[in-house]
Amino acid sequence: MSDRRVLEARAHLMAGELVAIPTETVYGLAGNGFVAETVSKIFAVKNRPTFDPLILHTDSLSKIEAWIGELSPLAHRLAVAFWPGPMTLVLPTSSLIPDLVTSGLPSVAFRIPAHPLTLELLSLLPFPLAAPSANPFGYISPTRAEHVANQLGGQVAYILDGGPCAVGVESTIVSCVSDPPAVLRLGGLTLSRLQSVVKEVAVRPHSSSRPEAPGMLESHYAPCKPFFLGDLQFLLEQHQDKGCAVLGFGDLSKIDTSSVVRLHNLSPSGSLAEAAQNLFAYMRLLDDCAAADCILAAPLPERGLGRAINDRLRRAAGSK
Ligand code: TXA
Ligand code: MG
Repeated sequence: MSDRRVLEARAHLMAGELVAIPTETVYGLAGNGFVAETVSKIFAVKNRPTFDPLILHTDSLSKIEAWIGELSPLAHRLAVAFWPGPMTLVLPTSSLIPDLVTSGLPSVAFRIPAHPLTLELLSLLPFPLAAPSANPFGYISPTRAEHVANQLGGQVAYILDGGPCAVGVESTIVSCVSDPPAVLRLGGLTLSRLQSVVKEVAVRPHSSSRPEAPGMLESHYAPCKPFFLGDLQFLLEQHQDKGCAVLGFGDLSKIDTSSVVRLHNLSPSGSLAEAAQNLFAYMRLLDDCAAADCILAAPLPERGLGRAINDRLRRAAGSK
């Protein structure tokens, strides 16, 4: 017997409407990925440029292979190792997939997300869900149902509330149409885990001015307030005449935060996984803080999930 909320979400999706879905990375703004008219609603609600292609979500490898043909041995290995999970594969597309989903590229992005409610929903659908992150284009991604309700509430037929996202940063995008395979966006699956399955993998998330993965635009994931990234003590001195909010990490006892108007520590114990979970929710809290004129943050250790987090922080600051 399916969850009542899942059945409600399914009914809206079958009727061509948009539904916000939880995943382990961030919430998605989902619609029938086979119907161009529905997909165009997603672009309109997000105010997203149509040159930025979407990820298709489903619950099984056999469905993907029925839609686009057999995966290459390498893509198959990655799929078996990391799906369901925070990894998106860019694969050769097929005529079933509308051009609007792929922006006319010869490739299509697929992901099997690891969230029980959404997996159940996907298993009940005969089509994949096109789903970008459920935020206005360029703004901070949503990791709680209320983030979606606050920003897009009036524009979706239903929000499937699956609680806070367990990973908290978007999926790692791996292109299997380039040789060697290439990471186009750093994300919830760490490079070391990826490299445990494919020895040779290129990492080029910053490579392009016409981005292959526009999560790669220089300014993205951005709060409304000015956001500065650097040495915290230095930044605090530089901006001492302003109301400074701080996004901290780890032990902050050596930093004089007495003048700070608001401080959120991503992980006092220094856990990168906890920091990723809290990242977007804390950025929103600081952005919403009336007393703050600007937000200051220091980069996290450049390892494991710290790489994906730093990537988001750099883009929030609007620089590479
Ligand atoms: O974790 C995630 O991936 C979340 C959840 C909802 O699954 N989704 C997400 O979607 O982050 P979005 O639309 O915000 O980012 C998708 C990225 C875009 O930067 C897009 O350019 C890239 O995937 N992408 C999609 N299709 C592609 C393709 N054929 N080639 C290269 N990049 C592609
Ligand atoms: Mg996004």
